[in-house]
Amino acid sequence: MKFFVDTADVNEIRELNDLGFVDGVTTNPSLILKSGRNILEVTKEICDIVEGPVSSEVTATEYDAIMKEAAVIAKIADNICIKLPLTLDGLKACKNLSSDGHLTNVTLCFSANQALLAARAGATFISPFIGRLDDIGLDGMDLIQEIRQIYDNYGFETEILAASARTVNHIKAAALIGADVVTAPPATLKALVKHPLTDKGLETFLADWAKTGQKIA
Ligand code: G3P
Repeated sequence: MKFFVDTADVNEIRELNDLGFVDGVTTNPSLILKSGRNILEVTKEICDIVEGPVSSEVTATEYDAIMKEAAVIAKIADNICIKLPLTLDGLKACKNLSSDGHLTNVTLCFSANQALLAARAGATFISPFIGRLDDIGLDGMDLIQEIRQIYDNYGFETEILAASARTVNHIKAAALIGADVVTAPPATLKALVKHPLTDKGLETFLADWAKTGQKIA
């Protein structure tokens, strides 16, 4: 399973990239706002840090305006992935941008039928938002499961990018179902390493090691 980091904070991206945790980055208008940076400048900086796809979202909603913004975003770097809303205009843009060879990420997916449309439009990635479904009392993982089954039934190559993943349990569940990618905030990705028995075991080993009086290096 590939890990994308869901942030526009370059320091956090650098830290996780050095750990080998980053196969790509996802951003959205809210994350750009949080970064306090200019979208084109910060996205270029992120593209220079990370080798994999960096999703940058259009903010226009009409087809022609989406395509104008997409042309600007596409010029940022070779590893840019154009993020498009799950609307008729967004899907039309996806179809044309994907057939022109651009990476595309269709975002704000909340149903299996929406994911089916995105795959038919040739999306590189579909982004079902797990956490936001959980927020309204549904189970985001049911959606991941349904999309996995539909994509496998028809051999769609669109990758399932489990988004709005907020907990380590979201990541585990998405991996068990077979989502191709998960995107999560830096803190959630780093939390994957934590287990109290690891900490406790290490503490005991180090205490015993100190008693030996030995040094390895
Ligand atoms: O990947 C999409 C993500 O940024 C949305 O996450 O936590 O705002 O639902 P959240």
